[in-house]
Amino acid sequence: MTARIIGTGSYLPSNVVTNHDLEKIMDTTDEWIKSRTGIGQRHIAIEETTTSMAVEAAKRALADADTTADELDLIVVGTVSADRHFPSTACEIQSALGAVNATAFDINAACSGFLFGLGIANAYFTSGTFKKALIIGAETLSKMMNWDDRSTCVLFGDGAGAAIVEAAEDGIISMTQGSDGAKGGVLSCYNRPVNNPFVKNDTALDYTSMNGQEVFKFAVRTVPEAITKVLGEANVNPDEVKYFVLHQANVRIIESVAKRLNQPMDKFPTNLHMCGNTSAASVPILLDEINKKGMLEKGDKIVLAGFGAGLTWGAALINW
Ligand code: UT7
Repeated sequence: MTARIIGTGSYLPSNVVTNHDLEKIMDTTDEWIKSRTGIGQRHIAIEETTTSMAVEAAKRALADADTTADELDLIVVGTVSADRHFPSTACEIQSALGAVNATAFDINAACSGFLFGLGIANAYFTSGTFKKALIIGAETLSKMMNWDDRSTCVLFGDGAGAAIVEAAEDGIISMTQGSDGAKGGVLSCYNRPVNNPFVKNDTALDYTSMNGQEVFKFAVRTVPEAITKVLGEANVNPDEVKYFVLHQANVRIIESVAKRLNQPMDKFPTNLHMCGNTSAASVPILLDEINKKGMLEKGDKIVLAGFGAGLTWGAALINW
């Protein structure tokens, strides 16, 4: 038994912030951002929250999969920007959807969150515990940025992507996941400062910090290795893959992966020019986009891959 994706959905905040908008409020240029990353604009939430975006993406995925909320027995949300420490985003979504039969929890695997969620559903399905799951990546990264740090704040955007997966004989063909916590310091964001009478507290509220070059090097080495591994385990040649749906962090990373796999860029759909880096949401948002455009046909072989803070990475070869 494996996990098969039967529907997708996504939501992006209505407020769009272009590189030119950023030029007006910080020392940056459209030329720098585009040439270094490929990003042209991002969606920044004003009214929306991580939960509200996730609920909307989930409703769209349920409709696409022709599934009702009470059929779900599992909800897993990959997020590093939950609205609250608890209850979890997944439990809030369960309540909003009326998914009364689901077990719901969040996972923190940053930009690999959707891939890790898919892996959890796959394991539950294989063990026979659950049969139908809602997997979501949802982020409001804009609230975790230091907007005085141009080296990070221009990169990220907000949004949510969702998929309905069910236990089936055919779906995920092979998958791999990994973590390297020893390198966690290259991309991190501290929790809220402690405020109790027993702890001398002089920690200011911190925001996202990143050693971009270290993350870049990690990505261009690890992602091709992970993809090569899942293809090798399934005895599938990269030429047989229709699309490689990668985490949307930097178009130069995607170009490097394409080169290392000796595959043309037109097999690597991108939307980071429109959405920026939406962390756990990026893979399911892009998957939904190509699904809704009618670019996927039953039986197509697709690779999904995510990488990011932790450090974490994951890749899956699936039959659509
Ligand atoms: O989803 C999580 C995964 N994250 C990633 O995959 C990120 C991976 N890393 C990257 O994508 C790239 O490393 C960045 C896009 C973050 C940075 O690109 P880079 O080519 O590594 O640039 P850099 O950090 O070496 O900075 C080059 C210059 C610096 O100026 P000096 O020291 O050369 O004078 C920066 O101060 O660019 C400057 N700079 C900027 N200039 C204009 C940094 N940010 C900006 C900016 N606008 N927004």
